[in-house]
Amino acid sequence: MRILVTGGAGFIGYHLVKSLMKDNEIVIVDNVCDYYDVKLKEDRLKQIDVKFYKTDFSDLEEMDKIFSENQFDIIVHLGAQAGVRYSIENPHAYEKSNLLGTLNIFELARKYGINKIVYASSSSVYGGNKKTPFSEEDNVDNPVSLYAATKKSNELMASVYNHLYKIDMVGLRFFTVYGEFGRPDMAYFKFTRKILEEKPIDVYNFGEMKRDFTYIDDIVDGVVKAMDYCFGRKCCEIFNLGNSKPVELGYFIEVIEKEIGKKAVKNFLPMQQGDVLATYADISKAKRLLGWEPKTNIEEGIGKFVKWFREYYGK
Ligand SMILES: NC(=O)c1ccc[n+]([C@@H]2O[C@H](COP(=O)([O-])OP(=O)(O)OC[C@H]3O[C@@H](n4cnc5c(N)ncnc54)[C@H](O)[C@@H]3O)[C@@H](O)[C@H]2O)c1
Repeated sequence: MRILVTGGAGFIGYHLVKSLMKDNEIVIVDNVCDYYDVKLKEDRLKQIDVKFYKTDFSDLEEMDKIFSENQFDIIVHLGAQAGVRYSIENPHAYEKSNLLGTLNIFELARKYGINKIVYASSSSVYGGNKKTPFSEEDNVDNPVSLYAATKKSNELMASVYNHLYKIDMVGLRFFTVYGEFGRPDMAYFKFTRKILEEKPIDVYNFGEMKRDFTYIDDIVDGVVKAMDYCFGRKCCEIFNLGNSKPVELGYFIEVIEKEIGKKAVKNFLPMQQGDVLATYADISKAKRLLGWEPKTNIEEGIGKFVKWFREYYGK
């Protein structure tokens, strides 16, 4: 298949491209933005041998050129301004990449007759949902961060493009993805670095939080299954992709400590704006319709991550 992967220099995009590049023709669009260390993105790109455009997908004219030069069977739209906390300080970055950028991708799919889009949503759309586990049927009209609001907006935009132009739309609500070559803005990455350097780690809401940490290989497997799902049947679906086994922050830190062989110095802090207390995915829909199930537990996944981290940073 000829696949456009947006955000292919990013964490999830890179792993997806790596797993698909042997048997498919892949084009990456990524502006390699400096939201986090650009070297990580450059090093990911060095490991993947596919056509790459360093382009901002909020630039419609540039994107139109790419679509006119290439023919795509499917788009996997993973590129976005990620991060909940950053959206409090930099709301316009989210408007540009997540709203305008996504609109451009959907519009160009319509213009160039591309019939299938798989796109990244997020567990953050559930906001302060009290009912657990979070189901795709739950009301998600009360996001608690602008990041979540843009992701929810993407789901609504997808629904409109499916309704008007019959483009297959599959939205994936990822739950806290972690693993090798991951994102340095995420807690597991910061904890690992600081514990190794024997520096204090910031533990928000005094550790009283739960996250449904999901290992990257399981997420890639889910994206690939979503690419195959309902191809050509003009469907519009949303799936939770999460481990469905939430872990207390305290236990999560213990797993990292054990893997590193050092104790963390903890700096307990109150809850941050935009954060949620717990995430917990109901994955019965993904099991039933995609045949997807996560296989990696937190101990195994963190083991692989810490091994990679030590090798990559020489620590
Ligand atoms: N990692 C997670 O835990 C998680 C959880 C929920 C949802 N998501 C979503 O999954 C997707 C992938 O996340 P990730 O963790 O790989 O993030 P990432 O930041 O590593 O990757 C996103 C990539 O998109 C690129 N990008 C951003 N704005 C762009 C623009 N305007 N034009 C071109 N490229 C642009 C960035 O340079 C980056 O390489 C995102 O949509 C994110 O919101 C991730």
